[in-house]
Amino acid sequence: MAKGVVILGIESSCDDTSAAVIRDTTLLSNFIANQKIHEEYGGVVPELASRAHQQNIIPVVDHALRMAGVDKSEVNAVAFTRGPGLMGSLLVGVSFAKGFALANRIPLVEVNHLHGHILVHCIDEEGKEMPHPKFPFLCLLVSGGHSQIVIVKSPLQMEIIGQTIDDAAGEAFDKCAKVLGLGYPGGPVVDRLAKEGDPNAFKFSKPSLVGFDYSFSGLKTSVLYFLRDRLKEDANFIETHKADICASLQKTIIDILLNKLVIAAKETGITQIAVAGGVSANSGLRTALQLTAQKYKWDLYLPEFKFTTDNAAMIAIAGYYRYLNGMFADQSVAPFTRMK
Ligand code: KG4
Ligand code: ZN
Repeated sequence: MAKGVVILGIESSCDDTSAAVIRDTTLLSNFIANQKIHEEYGGVVPELASRAHQQNIIPVVDHALRMAGVDKSEVNAVAFTRGPGLMGSLLVGVSFAKGFALANRIPLVEVNHLHGHILVHCIDEEGKEMPHPKFPFLCLLVSGGHSQIVIVKSPLQMEIIGQTIDDAAGEAFDKCAKVLGLGYPGGPVVDRLAKEGDPNAFKFSKPSLVGFDYSFSGLKTSVLYFLRDRLKEDANFIETHKADICASLQKTIIDILLNKLVIAAKETGITQIAVAGGVSANSGLRTALQLTAQKYKWDLYLPEFKFTTDNAAMIAIAGYYRYLNGMFADQSVAPFTRMK
């Protein structure tokens, strides 16, 4: 039997059911079952998400263990997402983890979903060169539910120095995409269309908040009013200008994100910069970050695409560090939907 601490990670906070197995920091498997059902509704339907998690969870875990070549008797602890997320979705993962821990007489480890996104930067994979940021590093965490700038002092110590006061960056992508009739989730579609458009074609409003906080609700309103006015003159405006609208929208979101990140890096003096969360898959954001990193001499860490959106590998690695520190949860633990 190979040595090392084996952690089974479970992620079920939104609409993806995922299980992963890690041995120390080396990822052995990471399996994700996506729920296509929500596309028909233009957004995640919580009730349908929890039902799908319930159907998926056992086969997903079974598959992850088999792909890892690990028997359940070798698992040292089970780590699960406690929150933030959708209550019905979280309950499935939390309940599964409790049952697995009890049946196998192993500890339970709770993980904050956002810590998980950030700690993908600590994952190793067999046979791959994976450079990791040195602590302390700054992480721009941009997902469907959160936009934050975090000082990551260690795998267990993180300080949020800025965050959105309204919508998240992913929400801005998704809500504007919905107005444009681009389906759900809109972020990847905007990304694809933006590649063929002119980012300077249209100007949308940017917030003028002091400090490191973000705001994206004004942008959404600005896009709405812009389209309302243009559609009065030309009913086909969206159809004929789709790529330019997407490129301009994407550029505005990237400008807003990078502006604060640059100030945060200057004020903290930190030049180890990482990005995480679903929006970190955005090709425009990745390119802009690379250019900014060259300009300011940052060491930049972009996650692999498979680690950008929700996955259980991130929960397993975060759980690993908590396990090493004896940070176990008990059987009375309940999910939380929002950050305190
Ligand atoms: O981290 P994540 O999978 O789930 C949350 O924890 O929220 O992030 C999902 C978000 C969605 O808003 C989705 O539109 C966005 O990430 N996203 C993107 C791209 N891929 C996913 N946004 C912009 N460009 C992309 N390529
Ligand atoms: Zn997420």
